[in-house]
Amino acid sequence: MRILLTGASGWLGRHLAPLLEARGHEVVGLDVVAGAFTRIVGSVADRALVFQAIAHHAIEAVIHAGALHKPDIARFPRQAFVDVNVTGTLNLLEAAAEAGHARFLFTSTTSLMVRADVRAGAGEAGAWWMDECFGPLEPRNIYGITKLAAENLCRLISRESGMAVAILRTGRFFPEDDDTHAVPSGPNLKANEFLNRRLTAGDAALAHLAALDRWERGCETFVLSAPPPFRRDEAAELARDARAVIARRFPDAVELYERRGWTLPARIERVYDPAKAERLLGWRARTDFAAILSTLRTGEELPFAHDPDWISPVLRQSR
Ligand SMILES: NC(=O)c1ccc[n+]([C@@H]2O[C@H](COP(=O)([O-])OP(=O)(O)OC[C@H]3O[C@@H](n4cnc5c(N)ncnc54)[C@H](O)[C@@H]3O)[C@@H](O)[C@H]2O)c1
Repeated sequence: MRILLTGASGWLGRHLAPLLEARGHEVVGLDVVAGAFTRIVGSVADRALVFQAIAHHAIEAVIHAGALHKPDIARFPRQAFVDVNVTGTLNLLEAAAEAGHARFLFTSTTSLMVRADVRAGAGEAGAWWMDECFGPLEPRNIYGITKLAAENLCRLISRESGMAVAILRTGRFFPEDDDTHAVPSGPNLKANEFLNRRLTAGDAALAHLAALDRWERGCETFVLSAPPPFRRDEAAELARDARAVIARRFPDAVELYERRGWTLPARIERVYDPAKAERLLGWRARTDFAAILSTLRTGEELPFAHDPDWISPVLRQSR
């Protein structure tokens, strides 16, 4: 299939483009920043460019991963988020529907589910259990607000045109350090997040591939994260004493962590549940917390990327 991949120069794009090509697809990358997989340097907010790209390259499906996202908030005004994330998504959806595409993938974010109360900590029942039914949605920043608006445009255009649209509400996969939590630092924090809210960029790319292969009708939302090793009825205990739950599942976790000078989370206050993606797309993240412990046991390289110096391409360019 000839695929228009937006955000092809970005972190996800550079994992997804080679994977698509390895599966026999032809990738036409579109990004505001040049890159190895980017054939069209331009903005998704440029409506004429988007329609021309889809027609001129005889595109058969769009994977819309390009966006301004959370790290860009410090650098770009709110209007830029509306232009890129909302107008840009509408341009792509309308151009794809007009060209008669059978399917469209939109890379969204679990971040839009994080309301002020979720951010403040666990709820009455313990850790927030966050699947596709979680609501009401009240995103707390312009990133989440514009991504939610883009999701709603996906639902509208799918309903009106019949184009199948998969909304992939993706958990964290960025390689840089967290911009709000300094403790525990670096790889320790990332490893902990595989318990409840992170996946590798490779697994995120594989989920897009699964949706491209499997999603054929209507518009559906899928939460993507590594499978949490917990049950819903452990939510209260997770919020109170996560280490006790972790120790039950992984008896040697404390010792493996101590050898590295790492710490396990004392409390887990939200859990992203990717069960629907497994059920309907046949996708399950390959790298989970058990896989991380196994590399700690054997001394192999950690199975996720950590690069404190990574800066999103659009931010790098704007400096
Ligand atoms: N990184 C994460 O942890 C994470 C988590 C959840 C969701 N996401 C989503 O995944 C997608 C990819 O994110 P990423 O981590 O690869 O970020 P990234 O910043 O590395 O990549 C995004 C790409 O979009 C491009 N872009 C920005 N404005 C554009 C425009 N107007 N037109 C075309 N391209 C434009 C950027 O140049 C960049 O190459 C985004 O939609 C993001 O919201 C990322």
